[in-house]
Amino acid sequence: MKHLHDKTKDIINNYSDSERVMSIKKPKWIGYSQANSILSRFDELLNYPVNHRMPNILLVGDSNNGKTALLNKFLKVNQSFVEEETSKLVVPVLLIQAPPEPDERRFYNTILESLFAPYNSSEKIEMKQQRVIHLLKKVELRLLIIDEIHHVLAGNLSKQRSFLNVLKFLSNELRISMVCSGTKEAFNAIQTDPQLANRFEPKVLKKWRNDEEYLRLLASFERLLPLKEESLLIEPSISTKILAMSEGLIGEISRILELSSILAIESGLEKINKNILNNIDFVPPSDRKKMIFKL
Ligand SMILES: Nc1ncnc2c1ncn2[C@@H]1O[C@H](COP(=O)(O)OP(=O)(O)OP(=O)(O)O)[C@@H](O)[C@H]1O
Ligand SMILES: [Mg+2]
Repeated sequence: MKHLHDKTKDIINNYSDSERVMSIKKPKWIGYSQANSILSRFDELLNYPVNHRMPNILLVGDSNNGKTALLNKFLKVNQSFVEEETSKLVVPVLLIQAPPEPDERRFYNTILESLFAPYNSSEKIEMKQQRVIHLLKKVELRLLIIDEIHHVLAGNLSKQRSFLNVLKFLSNELRISMVCSGTKEAFNAIQTDPQLANRFEPKVLKKWRNDEEYLRLLASFERLLPLKEESLLIEPSISTKILAMSEGLIGEISRILELSSILAIESGLEKINKNILNNIDFVPPSDRKKMIFKL
């Protein structure tokens, strides 16, 4: 089993088939080079010297292409902690999801909730804003990450503007950097405000193409999938098929490999080949849309 990571070998040696299937369904993190380079940019933001104009990043990518996974990975290595001497809570990085609509009050509520701070829904918005600022200073926040930012940049132009002003205000008051993450719509909305556009450096998680990085990704996946035989996913006939089925999205690549590994175990073949790929219950993303239209 030279094709496997040591931990994966342990799974094969010690687990039953159904436990192996369970292990396949668990989330995995593969540090592909685009993700690693974005993570090190986040690190730079986190350690940026405080000044009146802090740099920000806008992470842009198609849905299901690894944005949230990347943000969670960064959060995991920069977790909150309680300072031993003072028993004070320190939150260097806060990750929140933008509310589903551009509503300033809900945005502040989300921040308060994420810090387990009680709030009163009738509290005046100015009070709420002051409390958020006070609290974020107290926990020594250095990087605010807002996922699904396209939600709050969806409404009409004036709503968008007022929400962008909230972000600008927070960043100025707190002198912290921000990472906002969302789809292309978010990128377009930020471009409408020149001041924000040049404060947000775009980082794009591109769709996967048939190149070396993609083959490295497949090889990394293979080392983590607990199959007894080597599949050689990087063989052109298999790698191109997986890429076509996935339409270049890492979430789909991961799903295809999950379904295929389970079938490989259940069928006793113990490896992924073209036949397995043809027999999994998987519909490519664009065909899913067609299916819905036919309903
Ligand atoms: N680095 C990674 N290693 C392994 N699997 C990954 C990685 N990044 C993403 N995935 C897989 O892709 C799936 C989709 O990723 P994610 O939820 O981060 O997409 P997203 O870009 O946030 O999508 P959306 O815009 O719809 O929220 C994850 O559930 C996971 O299975
Ligand atoms: Mg996401």
